[in-house]
Amino acid sequence: MRFLVEPGGSLTGSVRVPGDKSMSHRTVMLGALAEGTTVATGFLEGQDALCTVQAFRGMGVTIRGPEQGKIEIDGVGMHGLKPPVDVLDMGNSGTSIRLLSGLLAAQSFDSTMTGDVSLQKRPMGRVTTPLAAMGAVIDSDEGRPPLHIKGGKSLRSIHYDMPVASAQVKSCVLLAGLFAEGRTSVTEPAPTRDHTERMLRGFGYDVECENEVISLQGGGALKAATLDIPADISSAAFFLVAASIAEGSDLTLEHVGMNPTRSGVITILTLMGADIEVLNEREVGGEPVADLRVRSASLTGIEIPQDLVPLAIDEFPILFIAAACAAGTTTLSGAEELRVKESDRIASMAEGLTRLGVQNEVRSDGIVITGGQMTGGEVNTFHDHRIAMSFSIAALRANGPIQVNDCDHVATSFPGFAALAQGAGLRISEVF
Ligand code: S3P
Repeated sequence: MRFLVEPGGSLTGSVRVPGDKSMSHRTVMLGALAEGTTVATGFLEGQDALCTVQAFRGMGVTIRGPEQGKIEIDGVGMHGLKPPVDVLDMGNSGTSIRLLSGLLAAQSFDSTMTGDVSLQKRPMGRVTTPLAAMGAVIDSDEGRPPLHIKGGKSLRSIHYDMPVASAQVKSCVLLAGLFAEGRTSVTEPAPTRDHTERMLRGFGYDVECENEVISLQGGGALKAATLDIPADISSAAFFLVAASIAEGSDLTLEHVGMNPTRSGVITILTLMGADIEVLNEREVGGEPVADLRVRSASLTGIEIPQDLVPLAIDEFPILFIAAACAAGTTTLSGAEELRVKESDRIASMAEGLTRLGVQNEVRSDGIVITGGQMTGGEVNTFHDHRIAMSFSIAALRANGPIQVNDCDHVATSFPGFAALAQGAGLRISEVF
């Protein structure tokens, strides 16, 4: 499937983008291990979250839905998972494979996890190294999937000083720590999304965060919870940029998750001159939520503060489109992690930007983008959902149509993207 996007248009009205991907994964994982039935609404019905659902079904967990965002998970308790009959296929989902490796390393049975071409290229040493220190035995293909996890190992607690700022690594170690003897702790080089910590507490598990050390005691139990998952700020980001760059736009995004470890995109866009109003701030199930009203604005290039990088890590592809529409130069550095996402997002975006006539200079840890008139053209997505959505939004300011090739992966995080964007004013069609 390709996107064909005609140039121009503006975005108006109100939209609610699908549920948060990170929270959806964690809902299934913790719900499966809890005692009792967990009920969540706002669950993301995207392929990534469905891979996590399938994996737990494969381990004997009864899960009803998701249907219209509602999911019910009959928890089997901390030691109730059954050996999977097949290899667990994690599709495109780095979060599934990395978080699950922590849980599976502690089970009594062997398991194997693999994924699609993109996932098979992604580094797993970042999780297998701390897990090995805890006593886990995991074989990989030179640090990449498939992962073969040996069961029957009793894990010991560790303190892990994380070399990269990664919520997936932190979560993996904490989830393994639930089963380890003693107290497992991690420190991160910079704060990353804290949904695991918040959600563990929501499931009645004590997680301490003191002097930047996050820790928990192994051997406890989880109690089923009722959750209302907010709209994913990473999906909302496409609309925040779209309404900012398209003249005459006035768009409201409803019920967006505003966790401070995720809202770097709003800070960065505001620094660039975006007009984003945060309305109806409230707290839902331990997570801050708000409605966001965004109107067109003239953006200016900035040097992106490095401390904001982990807080906007998934939003850089669309922020690069904002930079292409801004006056002057935008510089990103300290973002080498972008090179190991669903694609090398620095290289993928640079290639597409160049095709659309946007001046850019690639650096090992970032990029420099000079704003200017975008042309139409044909761009590739490198199996990366966020590259696909970013270049479709670019058409709002291009002087010709943009054809975005290979867009099936958009459904991993944002099913229904084209229809929702079209309803709000993007001139997008899907071509099969
Ligand atoms: C995620 C953490 C981030 C992010 C990913 C989701 C999570 O990855 O890019 O989309 O749910 O924990 P890293 O931990 O590799 O930064």
